[in-house]
Amino acid sequence: MGSCKGQVLMDRYAPLRRRTITLVGLMGVGKSSVGRRLAQTLEMPFRDADNEVESAAGRSIPEIFAELGEPAFREGERRVIARLLDEPPHILATGGGAFMSPETRALVKEKAISVWLKTDLAVLARRVGRKDSRPLLRDADPLEVLKAQAEVRYPVYAEADIMVETGDAAHNVSVEQVIAALTAHIEGKSAA
Ligand code: S3P
Repeated sequence: MGSCKGQVLMDRYAPLRRRTITLVGLMGVGKSSVGRRLAQTLEMPFRDADNEVESAAGRSIPEIFAELGEPAFREGERRVIARLLDEPPHILATGGGAFMSPETRALVKEKAISVWLKTDLAVLARRVGRKDSRPLLRDADPLEVLKAQAEVRYPVYAEADIMVETGDAAHNVSVEQVIAALTAHIEGKSAA
């Protein structure tokens, strides 16, 4: 009986496992934490582009920015994401600036479903304020940085296939929202 129920659940998510699901959005929105839980729920592998850039460079992101500069980070990020998009379907959390690269965007569009996670800038500023791992926020007011980024990036993030407004919800609630939005998107496509 138990395995029969499990089978039904697995089948429910099967259409979501056909392509890589790429999460985009500003720093602190939960791309990595929601992505990891989404991967667990859908039983898909999880990849975090920031972590992959760090392993490829043998340095942390603050070290890459400090020692090699932001352009070198962006180049590494672009290469790493291109490689990850050639892997079998998985959940891919990207860094907040990754989708701004036209080349990365084109590859994501071709090989993945993209989900823009969005929430209030005040919520983001509160969350990122607790960490010191983001070079772009060093010696700056997080809310001001996020506002400036939102102005430039939101029109580009809007090119993602799906947008999910997560509010300040717990990550497991966001996972359910993302699954519902992905399911509607995939069903809409197959009905078209
Ligand atoms: C960045 C976001 C960071 C990281 C780097 C630059 C950005 O990732 O890639 O510090 O340009 O927004 P998160 O969005 O995971 O914090």
